[in-house]
Amino acid sequence: MQEQLSALLAKASSELQSIRTRPELESAKARFVGPHGELTAVVKQVGSVPKEERPALGRIVNETKARLQAQLDDALARIEAGELAATLGPPIDPTLPSTDPGPGTFHPLTLVREELCRILRKVGFTVADGPEVETEFFCFDALNTPPEHPARDPQDTFYFPPGARFGNVPKHRPDERYLLRTHTSSVQVRTMLKGPPPIRIISPGRAFRRDTTDASHSANFHQVECLYVDRNVTVRDLKALLDYLFEALLGPGTKTRFRPHYFGYTEPSFEVDLSARHLPKVNKEWIEIGGCGIVDPEVFRSVGYDPEVWTGYAFGMGLERLAMTLYGIDDIRVFYQNDIRFLKQFTWGS
Ligand code: DAH
Repeated sequence: MQEQLSALLAKASSELQSIRTRPELESAKARFVGPHGELTAVVKQVGSVPKEERPALGRIVNETKARLQAQLDDALARIEAGELAATLGPPIDPTLPSTDPGPGTFHPLTLVREELCRILRKVGFTVADGPEVETEFFCFDALNTPPEHPARDPQDTFYFPPGARFGNVPKHRPDERYLLRTHTSSVQVRTMLKGPPPIRIISPGRAFRRDTTDASHSANFHQVECLYVDRNVTVRDLKALLDYLFEALLGPGTKTRFRPHYFGYTEPSFEVDLSARHLPKVNKEWIEIGGCGIVDPEVFRSVGYDPEVWTGYAFGMGLERLAMTLYGIDDIRVFYQNDIRFLKQFTWGS
């Protein structure tokens, strides 16, 4: 019987070596020490040996049992160590240099946006926000932009399917479609509908158009919108504000000029060019930067303001174009690539 027990120990020790998983361990346990296992089978024979040999045999049986258990415990410890290693992944070399890129910096678009807001806050503007998902009323109709206008064409605009619901973006009319706003001018309408003039707001945010991405276009870009409504507002006030704004932002020597243009929501309307030859990589005299004008009376009518009493100016421009001019960046795509080597180059005023 002694031989049987030592044979059993030897067998268990070699089999348990190769065990790697918990199910394998459970079945080995059952085979060696379970109620129908090999040890139990040997123990059952103890009754058949002469009485005087039994105590010595009992000791050997107990010893064998303890050693088997120790082997099973070892196998379990090995399995657990394997599981932990798999969870932790490859070992870490603590002597390698840190991959922590250090403290972050502001994105160049954030820097320019914040500086624009700061400059305009100084002359009484407050920051207004509006949803990126809009309805046709706020984006077009209330801005005197008729249904046949090209901006309303699905070729130019991202519309949502008719069944789309946005509980936090109330519709003005039940049958109008949702779309991704094509400009931040929609915030003008939302702001005016909130209360009476005077109004003096700046609203930076995302805008979306079905543009093919290249060095100067992106389907998702940013704009800054400005609206001023009060009594006796003239083109002169508008020009003075833009002169102040761009000189404060881009430095002394910056000039602006207006070119006549058409926008549905302003009359007269202008495109704004700026001249800033002192900036890096600026190699032409005039850079087109945005649109502006005197708020069209139709817009006031659609928000319930009396156009005989109220006047105003509005302007809007692309934030990317402005940041590119300021920092001498020649490809819009770098703003969105999250390349830390690009992003780390910007601080305010550089
Ligand atoms: N919404 C125009 C655009 O996306 C820019 C613009 C033009 C904004 C004239 C205005 C404005 O507020 O008065 O191109």
